[in-house]
Amino acid sequence: MSSMISIDHLDAAARFAMLSWTIAPRPIAWITSVSASRENNLAPFSFFTIASTDPLVLVVAIEPRPDGSPKDTLSNILATRQFVVQIAETDRVDEVARSGEDSPPEFDELAALDLPLSKAARVLPLVIDGCAAVFECELVDTRSFGRETLVFGEVVTARIAERLITESGDIDKNNVRPLGRIGSTFAASTPLSRRSAVTARAES
Ligand SMILES: Cc1cc2nc3c(=O)[nH]c(=O)nc-3n(C[C@H](O)[C@H](O)[C@H](O)COP(=O)(O)O)c2cc1C
Repeated sequence: MSSMISIDHLDAAARFAMLSWTIAPRPIAWITSVSASRENNLAPFSFFTIASTDPLVLVVAIEPRPDGSPKDTLSNILATRQFVVQIAETDRVDEVARSGEDSPPEFDELAALDLPLSKAARVLPLVIDGCAAVFECELVDTRSFGRETLVFGEVVTARIAERLITESGDIDKNNVRPLGRIGSTFAASTPLSRRSAVTARAES
């Protein structure tokens, strides 16, 4: 058996690097939200997954800013109880990265990035056009373990890009290009056939 090195003794920052490069690639929730005074906000979150399929509930872990204050996304979700999760594809990597840079609450990332926008069907935050999927969410619960706040959002309506649906109504598996996160950089995920994985191992 190959030897393993314990990471139990590492401090949180060092352990984070180990975690973020190995619990990967992670999907990215590109979240739009609005403040109580209706300022738009956009930020990406990769501590993100499906918490439940029926009802459809998504969960995002939001850590505080280095000074301990809450990020705008969390403040907005707690204030309005609504948010929209967009799934961006690899062609939007620059916009996703820029939307994750620190900015004051009054800074409107949506306007600054000049993204194409639409009104949501059921919630207040705007929707970014051209994404693979859009999930309009209402806050149903929060839970904290240490620094992160887990935000649980029940999906009140969801849409998939028409270009990703085949004539027979299936997802077009070869054309989905979801943008992912590995470590502190980005990853492209493409389907991998088991046959090629086995062949590659046999050849190495
Ligand atoms: C791809 C990517 C993924 C991120 N994932 C998370 C995350 O899971 N949790 C988190 O608290 N911050 C995460 N961040 C950092 C936030 O996006 C960043 O702090 C952002 O400025 C928060 O914006 P806000 O204050 O408008 O909410 C991520 C950044 C990037 C670029």
